[in-house]
Amino acid sequence: MAVLPDDLSSALDDELGKHPLARLTQSVDRLSARYRQGDAATSPILGSEVDVAAYAGYRMPATFAAVHAVLAEAASRAPGFAPRTQIDVGGGTGAAVWAAAEVWPSLAQCTVLEQVAGAIGLGKRLAAGAGHAAVRDTQWRRGLVDPAGPTPEADLVTLSYVLGELPEAGRPDVVRWLAAKAGTVALIEPGTPAGFERIRAARAELVELGLHVVAPCPHDGACPIVAGADWCHFAARLPRSGLHRRLKAGTLGFEDEKFAYVVASRQAPERPDARIIRHPKKHKGWVALDLCTTDGLKPGVAVSKKQGPKYRAARDAEWGDSWSTN
Ligand SMILES: C[S@@+](CC[C@H](N)C(=O)[O-])C[C@H]1O[C@@H](n2cnc3c(N)ncnc32)[C@H](O)[C@@H]1O
Repeated sequence: MAVLPDDLSSALDDELGKHPLARLTQSVDRLSARYRQGDAATSPILGSEVDVAAYAGYRMPATFAAVHAVLAEAASRAPGFAPRTQIDVGGGTGAAVWAAAEVWPSLAQCTVLEQVAGAIGLGKRLAAGAGHAAVRDTQWRRGLVDPAGPTPEADLVTLSYVLGELPEAGRPDVVRWLAAKAGTVALIEPGTPAGFERIRAARAELVELGLHVVAPCPHDGACPIVAGADWCHFAARLPRSGLHRRLKAGTLGFEDEKFAYVVASRQAPERPDARIIRHPKKHKGWVALDLCTTDGLKPGVAVSKKQGPKYRAARDAEWGDSWSTN
């Protein structure tokens, strides 16, 4: 379970308490419908202070969970990577800065670039009491994603849940701009077929620029998933807070945030030779794994009890884990 840091969770509760629940609920309904629509935005989707608070209440715990899962996986693939600087582009209320600071205590200087003043205001208030100095001291810059503007220059550049809001024709330029002076770049999108297609296109750009895929792919070759037939995505489980449950009118105590992602770096990572791309199917005495490997997709690879430690590893394995085919 990806739990929000206590300092973020309590700051978020305080901020949400400033708005009547009915107003937050209205905004959540409008924002959910807008994000489901999925097309690029012609004006900022977060149009008011209450929209920003509603976004932070109902989406920030989930985007934090997804970004945290992505960055933790990248950290496990590149154990020597200890970023000092991060730029989070389209950072909203700062979920990716909080997630990065949890994964890499080495971070000393974070910057959020964001177009909506209200999101910057709320992000600053949430970060003011953060335990991590890097989060507390984050620089918040109001501005646009702009490939003609200054290139983001940092050890880590993040772009989470933003690509889909940008006009499709400009996305390749944005990806090249993000990667031009980044040590490592992490792109995260909703785990939908459309979100995955955006990540697949961005990944191809990054590889063409000479970056190495750190995760999730076990290789830098062409993605073997046939467009339209399937999509590569993962899930992060997170608890719902009391207010979050009320906002989302859900009954479960948890939710699964689905996401698609790519992390790429100038340094060659330690790559596994396979990744588990679906929930393992656990049968009596054997486990079936759907794998993406250095040799392409391998659906339904059987690992039987006779394989001893390998079988025990398969029984404990989860969707999204790396895997050794040897
Ligand atoms: C869905 S929110 C994601 C926020 C944050 N990255 C997260 O993961 O929670 C998209 C954010 O991107 C910002 N954004 C979208 N287009 C932008 C642009 N052209 N320039 C700057 N920010 C932009 C929006 O204002 C919004 O805060």
